[in-house]
Amino acid sequence: MFNSKIIGLGKYLPDNVVTNADLEKIMDTSDAWIQERTGIKERRHIAKGSDDSTSLMGVKASKIAIERAGLTPQDIDLILFATLSPDYYFPGSGVLVQEALQIPECPAMDIRMQCSGFVYAVATADQFIKTGMYKNVLVIGSEYHSGGLDMTTRGRNISVIFGDGAGAVVMTRSENNETGILNSQLHSEGKHAKELSLIGPSTGRWVPEIMENNDPDDISYYPYMNGQFVFKNAVVRFSEVIMAGVKKAGWKPENIDMLIPHQANLRISQFVQKKFGLSDTQVYNNIQRYGNTTAASIPIALTEAWEEGKIKEGSKVVLAAFGSGFTWGSVSIQW
Ligand code: UT7
Repeated sequence: MFNSKIIGLGKYLPDNVVTNADLEKIMDTSDAWIQERTGIKERRHIAKGSDDSTSLMGVKASKIAIERAGLTPQDIDLILFATLSPDYYFPGSGVLVQEALQIPECPAMDIRMQCSGFVYAVATADQFIKTGMYKNVLVIGSEYHSGGLDMTTRGRNISVIFGDGAGAVVMTRSENNETGILNSQLHSEGKHAKELSLIGPSTGRWVPEIMENNDPDDISYYPYMNGQFVFKNAVVRFSEVIMAGVKKAGWKPENIDMLIPHQANLRISQFVQKKFGLSDTQVYNNIQRYGNTTAASIPIALTEAWEEGKIKEGSKVVLAAFGSGFTWGSVSIQW
């Protein structure tokens, strides 16, 4: 049996920085509230008139990851694209990346697991590589949130949090079972599906139906989040799934060199850090600069940590996520 490992990483963030002060001008919010509750100082929004899209940001991150892997796009034999904000309702964004990178006929699959999307995608790639079915897998997380948020006071509990961006990794076959992806832990709990959701437009909420109703209070086309409920579940599930992965890897939490939590809320990351007694150098956070970029947050943070030399050969790395679904998971990697 083969093992899988990450051999190339890349990220792309739109240039347009939106600070908390910018948001204060368009809704009833404050820099103090946002920083105190979430840790966020600024986020990136695709500028009006920019060509950037979910797939194009993914392509830009992917090109860097593929080059750093020492490969060309034609070496990729599977694309996994994690997003909750695809370019189209269908087809998925993976095929758009395939076309943009000119990779002939390789399978391109979208993974719809929201904030846990990248963890699910890495776990999926790992399985395909371990069985020998594919060798070089491009795994992307990309989100274009800003165009679909309610940027008024009504939507402030959500719209101040989310940002745009993309990250990508190339995973490949390895014959060394001591390094690479050691294990992945995946979970979901559909009974809480509506607690963090965007219900319409969908087959449960067709566009003609929404238009016919013409109800100004029908805002089912904006994301909804029961913030406190999500927060309470997140801290429990993050802790459980990190512990399960670490145990399976034969490690102790205090031995983690770099924990890359999904950047949902700095308070959640700090809770987990404290629970496991980790130092600031053992946990990577960049939500202060990018907000919550959902499926893109882990690959962006992982890429930055690697670029800064905080992840190197021998590092014990844990990726962990929780989000809409509810879904949650972790991946333990011996770098
Ligand atoms: O990525 C997927 C996973 N996501 C998460 O894990 C997110 C989990 N949840 C959270 O991070 C937090 O619940 C939030 C940051 C979303 C909200 O923080 P909170 O401490 O739970 O605030 P809250 O929703 O209970 O609201 C407290 C108050 C309310 O006012 P009243 O009713 O006390 O008068 C809100 O209306 O804060 C108000 N509020 C705001 N005020 C200023 C909500 N949003 C804002 C805002 N600016 N942007």
